[in-house]
Amino acid sequence: MAKVAITTQFFPEEAERLRREGHEVVIHEGDPLGKAGLIAFAKDAEALIIPLADRVDEEVLQGLPRVRVVANLGVGVDNIDVAAATRRGVLVTNTPEVLTEATADLAWALLLAVARRIVEADQDLRREGFPGWTFVPKHLGLDVYGRTLGIVGFGRIGQAVARRARGFGMTILYYSRTRKPAAEEALGARFVPLEELLRESDFVVLCVPLTPETRRLIGARELALMKREAILVNVARGPVVDEAALAAALKEGRIWGAGLDVFEREPEVHPELLKLRNVVLTPHIGSATWATRRRMAALAVDNVLAALAGRRPPTLVNPEAWPPKLGPAVMCTT
Ligand code: NAP
Ligand code: GLV
Repeated sequence: MAKVAITTQFFPEEAERLRREGHEVVIHEGDPLGKAGLIAFAKDAEALIIPLADRVDEEVLQGLPRVRVVANLGVGVDNIDVAAATRRGVLVTNTPEVLTEATADLAWALLLAVARRIVEADQDLRREGFPGWTFVPKHLGLDVYGRTLGIVGFGRIGQAVARRARGFGMTILYYSRTRKPAAEEALGARFVPLEELLRESDFVVLCVPLTPETRRLIGARELALMKREAILVNVARGPVVDEAALAAALKEGRIWGAGLDVFEREPEVHPELLKLRNVVLTPHIGSATWATRRRMAALAVDNVLAALAGRRPPTLVNPEAWPPKLGPAVMCTT
């Protein structure tokens, strides 16, 4: 039996699965604990199930020496120091695949909302009433069908965004770390350098992980390459974009608009963005559908159960840490 600390509201049936296997489960449902709070709350835990708002770094791992597995409730693991975990023989897992389609749907929801000015139109109707049908209304937007979509990061989510674009008759460009010949063929997508993608695309959707290489991938220089009528959608991570530069470009009309699900300093949102009408903002809800969140919880529990039983977790992020060496945490429990 091991102690599993879950630091977010969780589906009771998934917590129950852990208990049925004999594990003790403690759940923190409030605001993020912060590092000291996490260490205090998860004392003696051998497994953590954490939301993206929690950071697990060297200090946390040192404060929780019995932890053998950290299960992240998300695919991106930039909130975890994976190298530090690997050095300590701690397994890190994430939730790929199960959230791909929901996140691609949200990217499209943002793209369409900005292009067709859905949020502005809704707000104005509620505030001012239905203005009557006019031929040249206040909320004239942009065509989507038949235009050019540029996808930055052509992995699971990027390709799912591209699949939807086929229904919109779009030309699909992509830029990614490695070329994807099979996806190019299947989706009719064309690999181009990032600068060309930014110059040519009517819509740019960011789907890269946050790494040292992708931090501020889109700054003032890149925004200046985009068309005046282009829309930027970010469902990746906030720090991939220089938020101040984006706010300036939007304010000055250097690009048409933006749809943002993620922010540089979550939960803070750049105050200039909040003032702008040509940006649609959502609070990091890419994977937030009932069914997807249930699948993510189930996968996190599968990962923890496997790790605690000495089996390889299904979605292990650091295979270098497998198989675990017999360390202090393991010896304490045997
Ligand atoms: P993925 O399958 O690993 O795809 C990421 C793609 O980005 C890969 O094709 C990767 O190239 C490429 N890439 C990595 N570094 C790059 C670089 N420096 N330049 C260009 N391309 C680069 O991951 P995914 O499942 O699609 O998820 C992508 C990211 O979306 C996650 O890491 C997370 O941050 C974010 N996300 C956000 C939400 C949300 O709620 N908004 C939900 C889910 C995910 P390779 O193929 O060569 O590895
Ligand atoms: C969400 O942002 C995720 O990485 O799953």
